[in-house]
Amino acid sequence: MEFTRHLTQTPTTDVERDKVLQNPGFGTHFTDHQVIIDYKDGAWRNPRIEAYGPIMMDPAAAVLHYAQEIFEGLKAYRHADGSVWTFRPFENAKRMNRSAARLAMPQLPEDVFVQALKELVEIDQAWVPDGDGEALYLRPFTYASEVFLGVRPALEYSFRVIASPAANYFGGPLKPVSIWVSRNYARAAAGGTGAAKCGGNYAASLAPQLEAEAHGCSQSVFLDPLNDNAIEELGGMNVCFITKDNTLITPALSGSILEGVTRKSLLQLAQDHGLKVEERRITIDEWEEGINSGQITEVFACGTAAVITPIGELKDGDKVIPSPAKTDVTMALRQELLGIQTGVVEDRHNWLYQL
Ligand code: COI
Repeated sequence: MEFTRHLTQTPTTDVERDKVLQNPGFGTHFTDHQVIIDYKDGAWRNPRIEAYGPIMMDPAAAVLHYAQEIFEGLKAYRHADGSVWTFRPFENAKRMNRSAARLAMPQLPEDVFVQALKELVEIDQAWVPDGDGEALYLRPFTYASEVFLGVRPALEYSFRVIASPAANYFGGPLKPVSIWVSRNYARAAAGGTGAAKCGGNYAASLAPQLEAEAHGCSQSVFLDPLNDNAIEELGGMNVCFITKDNTLITPALSGSILEGVTRKSLLQLAQDHGLKVEERRITIDEWEEGINSGQITEVFACGTAAVITPIGELKDGDKVIPSPAKTDVTMALRQELLGIQTGVVEDRHNWLYQL
């Protein structure tokens, strides 16, 4: 596809950008441009790069009423020689199309998705940070732009990519996050949209997120209350356990869990290092008993934004389950994954893609 450039705005000065890059935080600063592709009359049209800026939208745009919206998250990493790479972008392209199918939205060719990332990073490459654990977070998303209030799949959409320099998702230096067991709210149900990366799933996680914060925790863990409280995932990331006999356990993809690219990559890295890997049903009782008995030695969260973050205390109502005993395997996996992404560990699975 030929992307045209419609640049109407003066880009951020070097001085202003450097100030942002010294302390990027997460999700608050944005680069100078966005990619836009319209969908109309059954085809993707007018691929272009515009200045980053507000979207003019009709109040009757379908997304504002029926939430036909999907998104992705991936990162661009700067290597020591200055080149910029991303990680398994075709996995995100495929997942976005699975999300699109679930929300009755049009498929975007995978190569167009990846080309869009390339176009944005090329024009905004000065925004890719190089600090430890930092990257340029890329956020592709598609929303229903058709002006129509009937409930049916919209006929018009906008696909966009924006980018935001990012450091630790949880803010400050890396430290274990505390987790609240969500007993009052589920995230998704069988047959629902849990496996899709759609805004609605995240909206549904916000009341439980407030509940978690009211109990001094950073995230909620969601359970499947109809299935013996099997663990699903956290509000925006998957969860993994390390046992004392060197097994990595993560909840099996049940149809209501997001198929994380980080999750999938870690299963491979763990196997490479001789860990046994189990994707299976694991309940909240097994988590609590495993910590109390010492059978589970580490618990961590994983996702593009969270990377790999150790999980500390678990709060289940009045019960407090203490932090797991160790973080060694968690930190080794984190270091290896970040090493591959930033070009200091061999990319033996060919996961990197140059932007
Ligand atoms: C990601 O890890 O990329 C996510 O989408 C999680 C969250 C920031 C929504």
